[in-house]
Amino acid sequence: MGFINRNEVFERSEFSFFLPTQVKYGVGKVAALGMELQIEDELSSCNNVMIITDKGVLAAGLVEKVKVGLADSIFEIKAIFDEVPPDSDLKIVAKCAQEIKNLEVNLLIAIGGGSVMDTAKFAALIGTHGGEVRDYEGGFMVPGKCIPIVAIPTTVGTGSEVSIGAVVKDHETKTKLTIASPHLYPKIAVLDPEMVATLPAKLVAYTGMDALTHAIEAYVSTENQPVSEALALRAAEMLYDNLEIAVKDASNLDARAKLQIASMLAGMAFSNSPVGATHAISHTVGGLYGLHHGLSNAIALPYVMEFNLESCPSRYAALARAFNVIESGISDIELGKLAIERVRTLKVALGIPERYRDLDVPSDPDTINRVTEIALMDICMAFNPRKAEFAEFQPLVEQVI
Ligand SMILES: NC(=O)c1ccc[n+]([C@@H]2O[C@H](COP(=O)([O-])OP(=O)(O)OC[C@H]3O[C@@H](n4cnc5c(N)ncnc54)[C@H](O)[C@@H]3O)[C@@H](O)[C@H]2O)c1
Ligand SMILES: [Fe+2]
Repeated sequence: MGFINRNEVFERSEFSFFLPTQVKYGVGKVAALGMELQIEDELSSCNNVMIITDKGVLAAGLVEKVKVGLADSIFEIKAIFDEVPPDSDLKIVAKCAQEIKNLEVNLLIAIGGGSVMDTAKFAALIGTHGGEVRDYEGGFMVPGKCIPIVAIPTTVGTGSEVSIGAVVKDHETKTKLTIASPHLYPKIAVLDPEMVATLPAKLVAYTGMDALTHAIEAYVSTENQPVSEALALRAAEMLYDNLEIAVKDASNLDARAKLQIASMLAGMAFSNSPVGATHAISHTVGGLYGLHHGLSNAIALPYVMEFNLESCPSRYAALARAFNVIESGISDIELGKLAIERVRTLKVALGIPERYRDLDVPSDPDTINRVTEIALMDICMAFNPRKAEFAEFQPLVEQVI
């Protein structure tokens, strides 16, 4: 009998796991970036580089480190595209893709958080196959390989450096578009703890909670399977152990490095076992009211865990044990409740507001109904362990808002 996972009957008759991204981890990897990439056969003819980033990452001095890392290598920086806004933007993606074509760029280096890495994924797609993002919306619509991406994450949340998907905001309709395709995985993910040393505490909290949401939702996903399970549980454990320390002590690089690794593990997990209702609600409220993705996930997470608890109690019990709950002789439901309590306590310790209304999101019945309707149409609902119609889901949205 395992301590974290019970030795239950294996219910799946088949599963697959896919992960084409190579991970290079270590302090100083960016300082030696040219050497690190030069040894990769498939990149030896990809010499025309565009760096994709945003103004905050640029101001933190991280792009300079990439430039130094590439000096004296075979890689020539043709352009630095630093116009990525939070959640990116369809028009910015189109502009970036056009520059890629004009300059005949054949390698993208994305340095930043999810907004930057996802912009690189979309720009690689449009820069290679033409058209616009909407042409490829949904799953498995990308026709073939895209310009390779080297992803250097500077936040500790999205896992986009190893993930199958990308998200962009349509700022006109205030909605988010998602594409998932095996062709969107970055070629190489470079995890250098020095890249997250400058991340402000608030963003460590928000993005770390995004990673925790990925780990929990992948673990209870309808598509859960043993490989992602291993990744998700280890990610949940590392995030729980290090998130509060990293937020409260900016000098603790060990804790930040572990968050960076855990975020990657969770990205690998959810790429194969997709996330659920927390993300569906978060995409909706975050899109409509401009909230940071990690913050809006963090708010909804414990409410959704409560909503899902009865649909897979033994999975929530395992999460409790990953969160250091050692009580024995109590039911899985009771253990699951303790897991939820730990997430709530962590949320408070990180200074995350309780509900969306605390951030001035309207809480009137029309808003609640609109959010319910849009969230129920989100693709993530397909992977939530508890299926729900409007009448069942609306009270959850009312609680969260
Ligand atoms: N593709 C995926 O698999 C996936 C998964 C989850 C979320 N997302 C998407 O990712 C986006 C959010 O990404 P994010 O949470 O990483 O935030 P972000 O990329 O929007 O960055 C947030 C802010 O942090 C600043 N920043 C980033 N790194 C910094 C550093 N080291 N030092 C100082 N400032 C720094 C940026 O300049 C920016 O202002 C959302 O659009 C979300 O939908 C994508
Ligand atoms: Fe997320």
